[in-house]
Amino acid sequence: MMLKHNNCLCLITLLLASFQITFVYCEGWAWISGDKIVDQVSTYQYPGGRSGASTWHDVNVNLTWMFGGQGFSEFPSGKPHLLNDLWIFNFNPVTEAKEKMDYFVKLGPVVSTGNSQKEIKPWPGIRQHASMCGFSDSLILFGGLGENGTGLEDLWIFNLRDKTWRQMSKKGPSRRGHPGVWCFGSFMYIFGGLGEKGQILNDMWKLNMLTLEWTLLQPFSVDMELPFKADLPEGRNGPATWVSGGAFYMFGGNTASSFSYSMQLVEGLVSDMWRYFPCNSTWDRVKDPMITDNKKIHNHMDAEKDAGPTIPGPRIGAGSWVDSLGNLWLFGGAGSDASLATASKHSQVLSDIWRFNTKPKVWEFVGGSREGGKAGIYTNLGEETVDGLPGSRTEMMVFPGKSDKIYIFGGVGHDGRKVDGFLNDLWSLDVSSVMSYQYMISVLSLLLFLGVGIFLLIIGFVVGLSSREDKHHGLMNRLSYTAVRSGLGASGHQYKQLKTDSEFIM
Ligand SMILES: *[C@@H]1O[C@H](CO)[C@@H](O)[C@H](O)[C@H]1NC(C)=O
Ligand SMILES: *[C@@H]1O[C@H](CO)[C@@H](O)[C@H](O)[C@H]1NC(C)=O
Ligand SMILES: *[C@@H]1O[C@H](CO)[C@@H](O)[C@H](O)[C@H]1NC(C)=O
Repeated sequence: MMLKHNNCLCLITLLLASFQITFVYCEGWAWISGDKIVDQVSTYQYPGGRSGASTWHDVNVNLTWMFGGQGFSEFPSGKPHLLNDLWIFNFNPVTEAKEKMDYFVKLGPVVSTGNSQKEIKPWPGIRQHASMCGFSDSLILFGGLGENGTGLEDLWIFNLRDKTWRQMSKKGPSRRGHPGVWCFGSFMYIFGGLGEKGQILNDMWKLNMLTLEWTLLQPFSVDMELPFKADLPEGRNGPATWVSGGAFYMFGGNTASSFSYSMQLVEGLVSDMWRYFPCNSTWDRVKDPMITDNKKIHNHMDAEKDAGPTIPGPRIGAGSWVDSLGNLWLFGGAGSDASLATASKHSQVLSDIWRFNTKPKVWEFVGGSREGGKAGIYTNLGEETVDGLPGSRTEMMVFPGKSDKIYIFGGVGHDGRKVDGFLNDLWSLDVSSVMSYQYMISVLSLLLFLGVGIFLLIIGFVVGLSSREDKHHGLMNRLSYTAVRSGLGASGHQYKQLKTDSEFIM
């Protein structure tokens, strides 16, 4: 009897939890700039459609640098090509008018195919998926994927003051693009990536951005079994990465050497989560109760079946950011969506939003569409609305904003007409609303549980009065008391969890 009652309370909690998702969705997305049609060319004030650009956010000046990618420059060639233009994104537009030119400033150069004004100044060549970090007044760019997917190994340093590039000749990691990248103080860490001939790499390197010295932390290994023997992450390209609480996190990516950006296979896509401690250079598999056997992650069908919707599906090219409480966020990418029915040999573009809480180490689906392949819903420019939704996409750029607001720019995926191509739309998402609503929900549920409890007490009292001889009235009263106590207990727990979260400010 009591168990049954607790189940009922659980159900109410679940119902409330599902409201939370709706709230997030309502308050979240706003389309604030760019086009709702794919494959737009650049203007001098606004970047054209693109994916796989490298970004670095400078917290000291609240600006994000964006370099290259694949997509459209200002030359209407009709076809996407690799880029090498450098932009600054500023979430505080210069003027109040919500126009394209407010958010981006172009630093150069023009990606040209045989133009008259020859660039005299040195400038990195065209590429996508390069590794980029910054420190003090320098921006560092390493490698990437050049023409025909060829891995690059050049190292460039951009002086933020005099706006010039210099190529460095320090010997470092082999040619590669799309590794896991972590910017950490004056260091850039990289793991794996796609090598010169498309091989999957599994070495780890550290670049000291002050001395420009590379350090090999973990050598490349051809032993395919080594990761499992030594409990190291498998080599991969395109994982999502985060820095939180002094540790590095890495989720998913592609582990198959048969990988090609154009073929969109799901074979080799993984959904494992790893943590790396830079203080003692050790990896630690972030244990997920759903995946205990290392080998299982190889088979995405297994991962889906076992983990169901409680962890994000295997994917590559997802967007990632960290909130003010140190939680890890994930958006979109290309991979498997939540429906097993659509699990096929081909990946889907995604638009789901997930949050990983680093303390209890759990994933939580927060919003967006669980189904892949969604068209964008572009509502009134600049307005946060119930209906707005960025189309499913991968290899988009994420720019941190003020407090817990983030910006998503471009990527390759579906536009408003569900046409596939290179996007240049700019969306904002305020996740601080998720946090405050979480608190509101616990207050709401407390009130609701109190209400239910009082209601049951009254019923119990009435029943007790009307049938004094009824042997069960004692039980009924006890039950009501339990209801009130459980109500308080459940809400109290939620509040406590929130408090634990806020203790974890990085
Ligand atoms: C960066 O943004 C934060 C939050 O809006 C603000 O407090 C800070 O003053 C800004 N810094 C600069 C250099 O603009
Ligand atoms: C890329 O491939 C094309 C066609 O195969 C070839 O003409 C071109 O030289 C290649 N470019 C590079 C940089 O390898
Ligand atoms: C490395 O450091 C982390 C964080 O301090 C710690 O939790 C972990 O146990 C350490 N690992 C080893 C192998 O010492």
